[in-house]
Amino acid sequence: MATTVRQAVKRATKVLAAAGVPSPRHDAEALAAHVLGVTRGDLVRHETLDVAAFDALVARRAARVPLQHLTGRAAFRHIEVEVGPGVFVPRPETEVTTGAAIEVAHMLDRPLVVDLYAGSGAMALAVADEVPAAEVHAVEAEDSAITWLRRNVAGTRVVVHHADVERCLLELTGTVDIVVANPPYVPLGAEVRDPEVAMHDPAVALWSGPDGLDALRVLERTAARLLRPGGYVFAEHADVQGLSAPALFTDPARWEDVSDHADLAGRPRYLSARRTGP
Ligand SMILES: C[S@@+](CC[C@H](N)C(=O)[O-])C[C@H]1O[C@@H](n2cnc3c(N)ncnc32)[C@H](O)[C@@H]1O
Repeated sequence: MATTVRQAVKRATKVLAAAGVPSPRHDAEALAAHVLGVTRGDLVRHETLDVAAFDALVARRAARVPLQHLTGRAAFRHIEVEVGPGVFVPRPETEVTTGAAIEVAHMLDRPLVVDLYAGSGAMALAVADEVPAAEVHAVEAEDSAITWLRRNVAGTRVVVHHADVERCLLELTGTVDIVVANPPYVPLGAEVRDPEVAMHDPAVALWSGPDGLDALRVLERTAARLLRPGGYVFAEHADVQGLSAPALFTDPARWEDVSDHADLAGRPRYLSARRTGP
């Protein structure tokens, strides 16, 4: 059966809005574009689409399956990564954290960059894409995520390490220029409101001890071990951790120039610090 794209998108927008989807028109258009195999911008060039295929996707989105799981892809800065069940969907705020690391990487000659808690590899791949001189490593522990990570880095120069952050990359100790990370940071027991997150992001990508800072504590120790004197760490945290996350980086024997930064919505979102050196 075929119907006009315009009618289908209009109807789907109402269905998604009624289901509480935050950006119903955008998602309806994205799903129509996915069914047609075109970009959203090219939708206007098409009159009809396969309504059965479209309606099936709209129903799943109305059940709050993440849009990116339905299209199989997530846009991140200038790249796209494949995502689905078992891997965390990269977020727009992480593009800002990654951008800060990329800015510093541009100032270094052949920077050695490590993405800890890599998930789909979005951060590592964006660094490799925008800093052609960088050597980039990505560390991820979970079997379900590593499958997506390996698929996404195929054909790029990002090197994958299937390892726990605490014990990773012993061979790079004291040599790394930049550590970038988006660790799990949700406190145990916190309410996760969005069904997309609660039902579809892997638990191990979210929860991080009673105060949400357990993984950031491991990150602090690991970054201190990996970085050369003068090297930088950029680490994302929850918007309520604008004081508590940088407070983990207060040992002057390890860190200097510690500061916290906002995301595009003006909320505290990531910290940066410089490894103290002799
Ligand atoms: C919030 S997700 C971030 C993924 C990716 N960096 C992004 O921003 O889309 C955190 C990731 O850390 C991984 N992870 C959790 N604990 C880990 C550990 N101890 N060692 C390595 N990876 C870990 C999870 O499997 C998950 O993929």
